[in-house]
Amino acid sequence: MKKGNMIISGAAELVTCSGFKGKAGAEMNDLKVINDASIVIEGGLIKSITKDKVDLANYEKMGYEIIDATGKCVLPGFVDSHTHFIFGGYRQDEYDWRLRGQSYMEIMSKGGGIVNSVEGTKNASFEDLYAVGIKRLNSMARFGVTTVEGKSGYGLDLDTEIKQLEVMKRLNEVHSLDIVPTFLGPHARPKTHKEKPDEFIDYMIETVLPVVVEQKLAIFADIFCEENVFSIEQSRRFLNAAKAKGLKLKIHADEIVRLGGAELAAELGAISADHLLQASDEGIRSMQEAGVVTTLLPCTAFSLKEDYARARDMINSECIVALATDFNPGSCFTESIPLLIALATNQMGMTIEETITALTINGAAALGRAAQVGSIDVGKRADLVIHEFPSYKFLPYHIAVSTVEKVIKNGVKIIDLYYDQPL
Ligand code: NIG
Ligand code: FE
Repeated sequence: MKKGNMIISGAAELVTCSGFKGKAGAEMNDLKVINDASIVIEGGLIKSITKDKVDLANYEKMGYEIIDATGKCVLPGFVDSHTHFIFGGYRQDEYDWRLRGQSYMEIMSKGGGIVNSVEGTKNASFEDLYAVGIKRLNSMARFGVTTVEGKSGYGLDLDTEIKQLEVMKRLNEVHSLDIVPTFLGPHARPKTHKEKPDEFIDYMIETVLPVVVEQKLAIFADIFCEENVFSIEQSRRFLNAAKAKGLKLKIHADEIVRLGGAELAAELGAISADHLLQASDEGIRSMQEAGVVTTLLPCTAFSLKEDYARARDMINSECIVALATDFNPGSCFTESIPLLIALATNQMGMTIEETITALTINGAAALGRAAQVGSIDVGKRADLVIHEFPSYKFLPYHIAVSTVEKVIKNGVKIIDLYYDQPL
């Protein structure tokens, strides 16, 4: 991937989010903003951050790209740490049924839900998935996302799980965005194993997991731990097997029913537990103690018309809270960061400072990448977003509208949405 030399000069606010690990509790409110500052980027990395005047003409002569950020705020690229962006087919009818009052679980019990997308993904070729993958990554980039996690889980069999992961591997090679792949083999019970979830977990552990690990196709393993999907014991068994093979752990936990997925995440030393709409006080406490990142997905709660996760309780309990979109074809067909910011700030009681921390350094922590991305610090990758307005406070204020103007990945401008002429 190209790595650029660049100067971003005179930003009204450099919202650094400075730090090399996830931030817990009250720490999430300190964005470490530097006013009227410039950034020097070399070889795709942040070389220096300065409030001094930079000799732009000299840098220009040396071939640096100069970006004038006067009157703008500059943030780290967003890290969307939970998505399912590789899938075939759509489920627009299911969303329509939900708008008319049916629940996600009702639709699942009638044979809809994830297994529908499994059909669509089995029928899609590598090239089909690759083509929609590019389109979806481009859309995320326009919202200022520079690192994204992607899960398998619409295969439920060896060939299709591997196909999804191979598409992500190829996309990671050709696309500017960084993709962190997660093996979510036990995402649903396939039609063949509706009444035999234990056998399906055996199949995942014995047949699919070894190939995923052998071919180095995933960094994380994940499971949908939920009533009528996979139990705590089945989740423990699968995640332990994945851990023994060197994968890091994530878990879809306590989304619809309080099964104790949060406690399991703490017990197993998962990097993150995600959803957590129903997490108990004890679950919150144990995740805090174990340093599990609590990843909240407000767009999913919105789309399912469920109550939002208890972000305030988690922050007040000193948890490391991350926010992500959960972009997927069923429970949450949106990759919109502006919607996520609107929901987090207006509906979940998070401050904009906490929200930005949750989408940057804490998102990076949820992917084990806090030392490389998620903040504007010397030595980190120059993954930066220039927003249209002089302050980050415009992000929630311009309700559900993107304020992104330019996106810089590894010191190269990949998006420029600045228009000042009539279209
Ligand atoms: O994170 N909860 C389980 N998995 C996804 C939904 C996937 C789907 O409905 O296709 C989620 O919400
Ligand atoms: Fe999910």
